[in-house]
Amino acid sequence: MLARRASCAALARSAVASRRCAPAAQLGNLGGKRNNVRTKAGIESAVETEENCYGIFCYNYDVSEDEDSPVPEGWKKTIRVAVSGAAGQISNHLLFQIASGLTFGDKQPIALNLLGSDRSRSAVEGVAMELEDSCYPLLRELNISTDPMQAFRDADWAILIGAKPRGPGMERSDLLDMNGQIFQMQGKALNEVANPDCKVVVVGNPCNTNALIAMENAPNLDRKNFHALTRLDQNRARSQLAMKANVFYETVTNVAIWGNHSTTQVPDFVNAKVQGEKVTDVIGDMAWLEEEFTPLVQTRGAAVIKKWGRSSGASTAVSISDHIRSLVNPTPAGDCFCMAVCSDGNPYGIEEGLIYSMPLRSKGDGSYEIVEDFEINDWLRARLKKSEDELVNERNCVAHLTGMSGGACEVGAEDTTLPGEN
Ligand code: LMR
Repeated sequence: MLARRASCAALARSAVASRRCAPAAQLGNLGGKRNNVRTKAGIESAVETEENCYGIFCYNYDVSEDEDSPVPEGWKKTIRVAVSGAAGQISNHLLFQIASGLTFGDKQPIALNLLGSDRSRSAVEGVAMELEDSCYPLLRELNISTDPMQAFRDADWAILIGAKPRGPGMERSDLLDMNGQIFQMQGKALNEVANPDCKVVVVGNPCNTNALIAMENAPNLDRKNFHALTRLDQNRARSQLAMKANVFYETVTNVAIWGNHSTTQVPDFVNAKVQGEKVTDVIGDMAWLEEEFTPLVQTRGAAVIKKWGRSSGASTAVSISDHIRSLVNPTPAGDCFCMAVCSDGNPYGIEEGLIYSMPLRSKGDGSYEIVEDFEINDWLRARLKKSEDELVNERNCVAHLTGMSGGACEVGAEDTTLPGEN
């Protein structure tokens, strides 16, 4: 475990004022109260020797002890955010959004815990160094680890991005099992060491079922606090509707994604609105909505991979920030946002105990409620059911990781598990 307390970042925003962020060797000369006591329960516990340190990350700069550098007015209490897959493309965008204030707000100081693997350790160190070099005032603390038990300790938010991509010849059930094992372990770690109110955002695919596995392995955490990312799909749907209607995205509202983050997902044009009017009235072209828009959104991940040669990175990171911002800010009247959430008690008759994407609203306190009054017509109902059936099947396939009894794991001829794979 390598640990770094907010040295550069703290200095940058402290009233020690116009001093600029400085390289490690100079930190000791800058005044302020740098504190290089490196042991605090848990997260820094492995930082015992100089050999474990690199760059300036062993320093601990505790600004709370510095009378000359009071916390800026209006700043909130620091929150701890753990991010897995910290060396990957998505994180490489997301971490800088988080540190800059874009994700949690410009009054929200952050302690970041980066979780990497043994293989990515050096790259995670590189990411940490770039964060250090960026002198973000809100970034108060940065820790890196290859152990979820350290990285998730006291986490208020856990953003689980790290997962293995499917290799050649690998069956869908193999992928579910392989990544499922990661999320089983991470769920157990969250259960033991995270803040019991921790919000868990699962991004690594197959994200709905990975979130389910983590949730079932973390009984100490509220089931409502496990979400899988479908905001990327929502953003994709909004963007396409805006272009078709020849309006700006801002005026496209009430766009829901239902179901699995797979090609069975259902981008809902029935309830979507453009400038307050029903999309079906404004666009009117039902053939386009059903036969072009719907598959376009369902397979957008694959289209990006085809162009880029890899999965979407920047847009996924943006959508994670959107996901979080939608939870920490009140939802505008007449709109909704989407995440895949636990289906327990849902008003749409979706089987309970799944992680299923639905339209949601938030008061801005980190929690959400399911929007209850979306119209489900026959076209939608059939497709919602197909995605539900797929998630039930995925749940069966991972029953050995959730401790639940389930039916047979049937890997169908039509393999729809990830948008990137068709
Ligand atoms: C996406 O929707 O862009 C990704 O989930 C695709 C993938 O398979 O990585």
